Amino acid sequence: MDALEELAGLLTSGKMLSMGAEAAVYLTSFMGENFVVKYRFPKKYIHPLLAEELIVKRTKREARVLLNTRLNGLCVPRLFFTMLSKGILVMEKINGSRLDELIGKVYPGEEQSTTFSRIYYNIGVVLGKLHSMNIIHGDFSVSNLMIKDEGLTELCIIDFGLSDFSNDPEDRAMDLRILFKSMESRFPRYLPSFRDKVIQGYKAGITGFNFNSVIQRLREMELRGRYVKERRRKHKTSVHNI
Ligand SMILES: Nc1ncnc2c1ncn2[C@@H]1O[C@H](COP(=O)(O)OP(=O)(O)O)[C@@H](O)[C@H]1O
Ligand SMILES: [Mg+2]
Repeated sequence: MDALEELAGLLTSGKMLSMGAEAAVYLTSFMGENFVVKYRFPKKYIHPLLAEELIVKRTKREARVLLNTRLNGLCVPRLFFTMLSKGILVMEKINGSRLDELIGKVYPGEEQSTTFSRIYYNIGVVLGKLHSMNIIHGDFSVSNLMIKDEGLTELCIIDFGLSDFSNDPEDRAMDLRILFKSMESRFPRYLPSFRDKVIQGYKAGITGFNFNSVIQRLREMELRGRYVKERRRKHKTSVHNI
């Protein structure tokens, strides 16, 4: 075993926080400090060379955007160390809850409270700021947003592996679409108020591009989505009637 592999082994030996389709996330401590280690592993069904290329690309992208966004004042985990060839990022542990966990924990009715309205508005502001840097998150879902425990005010973004640089309104609208879809699939009842607040915040958070061009694209996507859903439903009904 070479030194690099040994180090990689050490870094991924903590408590597992999550095991996704392409990355495992661990909580490790070193000299009394907690760290999060994200390790992208090669997928078995992809050719090893392609798998490595993909791992390096996504890890590099995540590292670059973590540094970039932090420099611009957004709350993202501080990046401490990278081992690109092994798909490893070592970063700050955000002491907080994911948005989906937080909503899941509250009592019925509370999700409409001013605390939540403020969080939702903030999500829009933060996404607006991200887009104003011409960064697209690529997977801006309720499970990639964290709210710090302290005061429940600070909103942090994680998981930038699918991010990209773009100023295309369509790409920007896609981030909003993914966010609303993720909310709809987890907590459909809260979607209308969530959507309103996020869009208000988004409008307030953006600089240097046109709000309406993004919202128009979003509406088009939503209409297309509804049309496809409707078609599927009709198709199912007609098949059942045969
Ligand atoms: N910096 C961090 N601080 C605290 N928890 C984190 C951090 N990064 C990731 N996590 C936890 O690990 C989970 C998976 O990490 P994520 O980067 O979203 O990877 P995946 O691509 O598997 O979704 C997150 O949903 C969150 O619960
Ligand atoms: Mg994630």
